[in-house]
Amino acid sequence: MFQPLRVAPSILSADFMNLSADIELVERAGAGFVHVDVMDGHFVPNLTMGVPVVKQLKRCARIPLDVHLMVSNPLEQLPWFIEAGSDILTVHAEALDEGELVEAVDLIRSAGARACVSLKPNTPASALAPVIDRLDMALVMSVEPGFSGQSYIEGSENKVARIVEQARGAGNEGLLIEVDGGISVSTVERVAAAGADVMVCGNAFFKAADPAGELKRICDLGNAARRAAQEA
Ligand code: DX5
Ligand code: ZN
Repeated sequence: MFQPLRVAPSILSADFMNLSADIELVERAGAGFVHVDVMDGHFVPNLTMGVPVVKQLKRCARIPLDVHLMVSNPLEQLPWFIEAGSDILTVHAEALDEGELVEAVDLIRSAGARACVSLKPNTPASALAPVIDRLDMALVMSVEPGFSGQSYIEGSENKVARIVEQARGAGNEGLLIEVDGGISVSTVERVAAAGADVMVCGNAFFKAADPAGELKRICDLGNAARRAAQEA
């Protein structure tokens, strides 16, 4: 059955003085998730938001919180973000060794949240191998993590296609693949055709004159590309 794409607007590009209004904008536009970029100034150069903000977001968001942890010590921080109400928790493979990656995924899932592992642009899809059989979602970074508004790195869609095959090989047909960085009307079709299910959009959504209209355009283009690829 055809599964339509989901869009996850990244509140890193929102108006921090009016976050609740921007969450409402995201929900009214028909987004699937609210994407929350947590950066610690160490794993990535930028420093953004943390547990107190996630707690507050949880009080007003009616759609799932998709929390992307760009931190050096995810195992220490996970329990706080779980308690804060994260629905999906993403850790970076580069911040953990293989055993720790398994531990992180199992910790998230045993707490009843959905587990996602993210790969930076230079990290191969094979880094997901230790957890591919039990992951809920994989996040392909299509820019170097740290800042919104960067350009999509050409060829990132190839990693999406490799993960689709890897998941199939591991019997994890339900794995969602999310793409993050530089996604817009210009880039959504190639990642959707490669098999991506969730599009993170920062600037493309929040800096648009008509964010809801833009989200619909992104979905329509992506869904058409996805349908054509599935029928091919
Ligand atoms: C980058 C973040 C992204 C970013 C996306 O490190 O993980 O979520 O905010 O922003 P755009 O869509 O503007 O590239
Ligand atoms: Zn992100």
